[in-house]
Amino acid sequence: MSANAQKDSRPQGAAHSIGAGYNARKNIRKNLLLVVMGGIAAYKTPQLCRELRWRGFALRVVMTKNASRFVSSEELAQASKQAVSEDLFADQSSGKNLWQNSHSEDMAHIELARWAHIVLIAPATANGLARLAHGLCDDLSSTTLLALKREIPIFAAPAMNPQMWQNPATQYNIALLKEREVKMIGPCIGLTACREVGLGRMSEPIEIAKEIELACLKENELEGLRVLITAGATVEPIDPVRYISNKSSGRQGYALAKAFAERGARVLLVAGPTLVQPPASRRIKVVRTESAEEMARAAIDCLTNATRQKTHKAEPVRVAICAAAVADFRPKKQFKLKPAKKTLAGKIDLLENRDILAEIASLPKGVRPQIVVGFAAETSYQTKENLLAKQKTKKCDWLVANDVLNDSVFNSEFNRVQILDEKGEVEALPRMTKLAVAGRIADKIAACLKDWEKSKISATREKSSMTDKPRRISQGG
Ligand code: CTP
Repeated sequence: MSANAQKDSRPQGAAHSIGAGYNARKNIRKNLLLVVMGGIAAYKTPQLCRELRWRGFALRVVMTKNASRFVSSEELAQASKQAVSEDLFADQSSGKNLWQNSHSEDMAHIELARWAHIVLIAPATANGLARLAHGLCDDLSSTTLLALKREIPIFAAPAMNPQMWQNPATQYNIALLKEREVKMIGPCIGLTACREVGLGRMSEPIEIAKEIELACLKENELEGLRVLITAGATVEPIDPVRYISNKSSGRQGYALAKAFAERGARVLLVAGPTLVQPPASRRIKVVRTESAEEMARAAIDCLTNATRQKTHKAEPVRVAICAAAVADFRPKKQFKLKPAKKTLAGKIDLLENRDILAEIASLPKGVRPQIVVGFAAETSYQTKENLLAKQKTKKCDWLVANDVLNDSVFNSEFNRVQILDEKGEVEALPRMTKLAVAGRIADKIAACLKDWEKSKISATREKSSMTDKPRRISQGG
């Protein structure tokens, strides 16, 4: 399909005017850097700029040399209400450099990278994505992308020929980028510019803008919520060399911390020893522990301290998620020096460790978090009855169960879980990344807290309307 033919399918007229039929908020005050790459869908980016501006984003646009074959910098400057940056080494005095009205004397790629709160690449070409995946950079767009700080969210709206999209090289690059949390919007199925039908068309501007807006709105969904998460395994020393532990990379617990922090919550992450690094975020405080006893103390202290400080500034912890693989036992005796193996064989007495989840769930009202979530790593598929039984024993509200025997879960980025909620309903999720599982759990908890707030408000209203004395209706003026 030619550029013009594709242009014809563009939303036309009032019915498709910006935001038509969509009750968008226009109060998203974020700096969005739009990187336009050289795909035919670049002609849609002025429309995309308008959609984004309408939602409140402040825009700056960087375009590649090839992008200028499909859209002019003047059009983009008009739509974004900002000068468009194109050249890494633009001559600031030439007048051609649209960067000249810029805001600092810094190098353009650094200044742009620090200005952005969020980045959108649209269209994202196969070449552009490959270069981003492998850290190649030789123009303004690629150097800016490489100069972004890790916490800046990147969205990409790919657009390419369907075969190019399906090519294992592209798919490999996409997987790499997803691993680094670049969020893909589309592509969608349809007739592409090269007259081939398949997956490769860039999503429509309104869809891209909506998705980004939704992600930004979610960002503050759990603002102010305090969450406690235990993650990783614990280590119970036998002697200075040997120990008892469980298999756990800590990834699922870390993903949960990340998902909650991304939604605005403040997370206390009590972590056992793991090889994987916990997520870095100003909203996540990591407390390192080794043994189950240390982990239990850190977790319980955090809850009791939070409650004690409630009257001052700290909010109570409303959600606790025990994702750690806590060792059930510890050796009764810990040797100061390493004994010979023969002296140990068959002679290690074990003591049962504190059950952190059960302890948290049994804390008195006012200290106990409103939602206590346990994990159950099982070696077989769990029936609802099994899950209900464990939920009851542990006295927790929710239980997230996974089959660690049949699905490769340990040390993997993926997980497949069932979630049992406080109403006894089970939701089975398909296999997905641990971050996606964490996102689903965070969204579910957000929805549950919202429901509770709503019912609390309506109960208070009902109560006050019942206790209200009947008012005299005044007559006349
Ligand atoms: N857990 C905990 N402290 C422990 C043991 C387990 O906090 N000492 C938590 C885990 O973090 C997890 C949940 O309890 O959230 C379930 O762990 P699991 O090992 O399935 O439970 P167990 O009590 O060990 O039950 P089982 O008898 O099935 O091993």
